[in-house]
Amino acid sequence: MKTANIRFAALAAAALAALNGLAMLDDEAALKAARETLAKMTLEEKALLTGGSGTMTISAIPRVGITKEWTMSDNSSTVRPQMNRWDWGYTNPRSQNTKLPSLSALASTWDVELARLHGEVLGAEMRDRGVDELLGPGVNIARTPLNGRNWEYLGEDPCLAAKMCVPMIKGVQSYDVAATVKHFCLNDQEWNRTTVDTHCDLRTLHEIYLPAFRAAVRDAGVLCVMTSYNKIDGIWASENKYLQTGVLRDRWGFKGLVETDWGGQHSNEFSANNGGGIEMDRGDKIVHHFNPKAGKYPLVDAVKAGKVSEATVDEMALHVLYVMAKTGFLTGAPRKAGERNTKKHQEIARRIGEESIVLAKNEKGVLPLDAKSLKKVLVVGKNAAEKQCHKGCSAEGNVPYEVTFLAALKARLGKDVEIVHQPIPRFAVKKASKEELEAVARAGGHVDANDKADDAFNVKLDEIKAIALTSDATIIFTGTELGYNGNMESEGRDRKDMLTDPGEDASIAAILSWGAKNTVVISRAGTPVGYTWTDAAPTMLLSSYLGMEEGNSIARVVFGDVNPSGKLCQTWPKRYEDTGVAQMGTYNGKEVVYNERFYVGYRWFDHKKIEPMFPFGHGLSYTTFDVSDVNVKTEKGCRVFVSARVTNTGKVAGREVVQVYVSYPDAKVERCEKELKGFAKTKLLNPGESEVVSVVLDKEDFAYFDELCHQFTTDAGKYEILVGTSSRDIRGKASTDIAWTMQFPWM
Ligand code: BGC
Repeated sequence: MKTANIRFAALAAAALAALNGLAMLDDEAALKAARETLAKMTLEEKALLTGGSGTMTISAIPRVGITKEWTMSDNSSTVRPQMNRWDWGYTNPRSQNTKLPSLSALASTWDVELARLHGEVLGAEMRDRGVDELLGPGVNIARTPLNGRNWEYLGEDPCLAAKMCVPMIKGVQSYDVAATVKHFCLNDQEWNRTTVDTHCDLRTLHEIYLPAFRAAVRDAGVLCVMTSYNKIDGIWASENKYLQTGVLRDRWGFKGLVETDWGGQHSNEFSANNGGGIEMDRGDKIVHHFNPKAGKYPLVDAVKAGKVSEATVDEMALHVLYVMAKTGFLTGAPRKAGERNTKKHQEIARRIGEESIVLAKNEKGVLPLDAKSLKKVLVVGKNAAEKQCHKGCSAEGNVPYEVTFLAALKARLGKDVEIVHQPIPRFAVKKASKEELEAVARAGGHVDANDKADDAFNVKLDEIKAIALTSDATIIFTGTELGYNGNMESEGRDRKDMLTDPGEDASIAAILSWGAKNTVVISRAGTPVGYTWTDAAPTMLLSSYLGMEEGNSIARVVFGDVNPSGKLCQTWPKRYEDTGVAQMGTYNGKEVVYNERFYVGYRWFDHKKIEPMFPFGHGLSYTTFDVSDVNVKTEKGCRVFVSARVTNTGKVAGREVVQVYVSYPDAKVERCEKELKGFAKTKLLNPGESEVVSVVLDKEDFAYFDELCHQFTTDAGKYEILVGTSSRDIRGKASTDIAWTMQFPWM
């Protein structure tokens, strides 16, 4: 009878929610349903909810109305095929889903509406597949360009990551499924990620590494948090009481489910007593709280031995039940219907890709290429034809199709245009003539380091030169790949340096020195690469991994169907040695002390006055924009309204991203030169058209974390508002005065 009542109340609440345009149960109704269910459970049943029942599931408990297992799946850009109960194999390897661009691409769109669509595609595809929890998004900060998973995250800046993850999470959860923000926290490298001990001062932690997690919890209502593998000050992140209880639950008010990264649980009672969440791992390795394979209950034993209180187990189970209730899984409330592999989803994948591509250079206006004027095109670089969607470890997917750049080019240009595709040969110094060596050195190639390159390639370079000089366009497709060979990008390991494969830089420098017609460089990588020849490349497009529509997205930008509007979400250093982690010696595989503190990314390059290859926020267009009328209005209570007029002053339609940075002329404590606090992307502006964009800042946007008070503080005084189109292209300034000092604990 009681169950029927709960169900009825939940159904009524859901109907009301649907009327209000919200799909999820409200907190009160969800907590009520969760508590009612908890009250009916035995200790053993509660313990069932403190660990997985298999690699990607949590137990069904039909006796109390949980009729099915809760099902999870990776990742942030697709719904990965379902895993077997006890191992890492796929239950149905053939199941297919849309693969969207990676999160570093999404961040480069600086478009919150696309972030929402990205989330909605994932939510709809999960529902259609019967998946309840998505193991994404990842919001770790790109602290070093070497991090093997930067492509899975939202860049180097906490404000950008926070503002992009919120609509994405809301989009996912609008389908009555749960999103999981990961990896909480300080998992900013893959090198020894399961053992490394990280040390970060509290101010940097709260200002740089936590804001995206906080926004996910506070502004998006994310339902799940995945802890990271690393240790923090000697304690595993998964059992760190300060973070799990002090920050996540007490400060941010998180009510949902915390789970370990797979295999990140190290104890039974210690974890339970320190705010640890549920244990996830490969099914047969889940052993600490509840051992599904052996059918044992170590957590129940710990309660019986007086080592863990039953109230603690109740709390852990309640968090899981709350998430189950919120999504309608527990109560049987109607959940939004999904769909997958639709044309609409594929178009969204393509659009996100197009909007993410960054035009880094276009000195001679080579781009866009005029398709009608091409009879012969040379494409150099095997990555132009290398599929990526099925790679990336937990971020991999299985797609109905994948369009590579080469395939898109062929489709676009048709049979009448000759397309020659060649790999980038590795330049062999031993075989090169004096003139060639000089030309390569002038273009920035590494001519001294490549003695070991395979001599056979040198012959190839001559062949390629002959083709290039008779082609109407030469497209060099470079970058990195996903995977474990050589210096690729991947989970579980970092890149060993920022360079391309040995000899590749020298070959690209050689190609750039030939003066071939319409030479275009396309770099496809999820993290900055330290190319040595960029000064010699007049035209460069930078792309991240763009999923199944990658080739179409890039081709549409190359031919001007789409005017590029992406902006870098990471600073591109000229060389690794310029980065904060390199200069402070704060990157290793054992004890990492974040000594560069909050000077991460552009904050470091500004602080040390280092010229990057391409600055954070940079991205050109096929048109030009004027930014004028920068206006700042401050309201009592510290709300600052910033507006600016953007006018398209060029010849084609395009979009611009206005970036709002704050600097601190009156700072009472050490502060960065400037910090991003908001941004707005214009609509598609026709030539001559303008739009007034606005960004609202509030007290949090001026604050620093005061370690002694353990509070955020906004001091009274003058603040400068910088409005730009990149972190190094500030177009207008205004200042505002904040009248009184404010402290607030909950950021
Ligand atoms: C990764 C997580 C992923 C999990 C489950 C771990 O190795 O770090 O990001 O969600 O596996 O596949």
